[in-house]
Amino acid sequence: MRDLVDEEAENLRLIEQRARKISRLYGYKEVITPLVEHYELLAAKLGEENRKRMFVFEDLGRRKVALRPEFTASVARLVATKMQSAPRPLRLFSVGSLYRYDEPQFGRYREFWQANYELFGSNKPEADVEILALTNSLLKEIGLKNYFFKIGHVGVLRSILNHDGISEEQQNSIMQLLDKKQFDIALKTAKNAGSSKSSLDTLETLLNIKGRQSDAVISEICEVVKSYSEAIEAAGNLREIISILKAGCVDVDLSVEAGFARGLEYYSGMIFEIFATNMDIAVGGGGRYDKLIELFGGGQVPAVGVALGVDRLSLALQKQGQTTQRSEENRVLVVAVENSLLGHAFKISNMLREKGIVVELETMGRSVSKALSDADRRGITHAVIVGSKEIQENMVALRFMRERTQEIVSIEHLFERIRQ
Ligand code: HAM
Repeated sequence: MRDLVDEEAENLRLIEQRARKISRLYGYKEVITPLVEHYELLAAKLGEENRKRMFVFEDLGRRKVALRPEFTASVARLVATKMQSAPRPLRLFSVGSLYRYDEPQFGRYREFWQANYELFGSNKPEADVEILALTNSLLKEIGLKNYFFKIGHVGVLRSILNHDGISEEQQNSIMQLLDKKQFDIALKTAKNAGSSKSSLDTLETLLNIKGRQSDAVISEICEVVKSYSEAIEAAGNLREIISILKAGCVDVDLSVEAGFARGLEYYSGMIFEIFATNMDIAVGGGGRYDKLIELFGGGQVPAVGVALGVDRLSLALQKQGQTTQRSEENRVLVVAVENSLLGHAFKISNMLREKGIVVELETMGRSVSKALSDADRRGITHAVIVGSKEIQENMVALRFMRERTQEIVSIEHLFERIRQ
């Protein structure tokens, strides 16, 4: 696991801030769930690949517990238990660290951060669209320029497997293989599980159907699955979601893929992932999962959600030559020329901070010139030098670091002068 310092830590928190802003704008309330949960709860519908990568241990009470690999299970547990009677729709936001024993490589870490949004209580396509639109808003808010949504529907593939009576467990393994793009092995597994020749042909054809012209792609899917009524229904649901989305967020770039599957097993409807161009790992993913709350004993509560990988968003911004836009703020250093003036220096610092200015006070006892050259290096915009002669007249020296100019200013007007 990594230590995050300087910009890495700053970027992560900035993206987190933007994610929180979006949660507020869309009416999502934050929930804070524990980092450690019962293994069974977290493992329930996580999928074989993810299950193998959990950090699992026995606690001192001999309970089998694990570090959370995602938020969805914990939030669903909340909705199935403590929030069972909360009015619907219920919009919940979480942000924090997650743990998966992945092989560390570019964009893949054992500890990473997600901003997670879940919408409970609606099975309508507009709920799916809200999650997609919110995701788009967040990507715009952080300043990501080039990205697209890969979108599909688990109902298309699963209903063909259902048609031939393939068990849920076998379907899950086939979905895992498709998620890893191991198409041949997936088809072979379907064959061994009892898929008919015509279903295998249909599946194989579907795996090659994808494209940006969503209407045309969905019509093609409908044509291929015309003898599977549930698959047609699933494709129709996807068509409806996309048509509302396009009407509301005209600029969203979609790639519809019939053979798209996700490793997580709880999905029951529309699924999607977001890719930043120039990066082949997803910066976020989500979808509809209408059965999970029921599995946790909370009755039938349809749900749809998304999680964005904060670390990967930060990498995607860097790759596209953008940094998370910071507001150009003044940063002030206050230096006392001698120890007897430290009280004044603290008072002036607090006065400026109360007005919202970022202030660092020289705490190393360095000379003014040493403190100033260090301030230069660290991007300080103004230095306030507290000297004995000036302070007697309620004045200080204000140095404009970029311009390399200095003037004597009254403490009363210091804030206005810095703000100018
Ligand atoms: P997920 O696709 O497993 O979905 O993860 C979502 C995002 O978390 C990924 O797209 C990626 O950006 C980030 N992520 C995952 N693993 C790592 C890693 N090892 N290192 C860095 N980033 C990573 C979920 O977690 C679902 N719970 C999303 C969801 C919410 N579905 C419905 N509601």
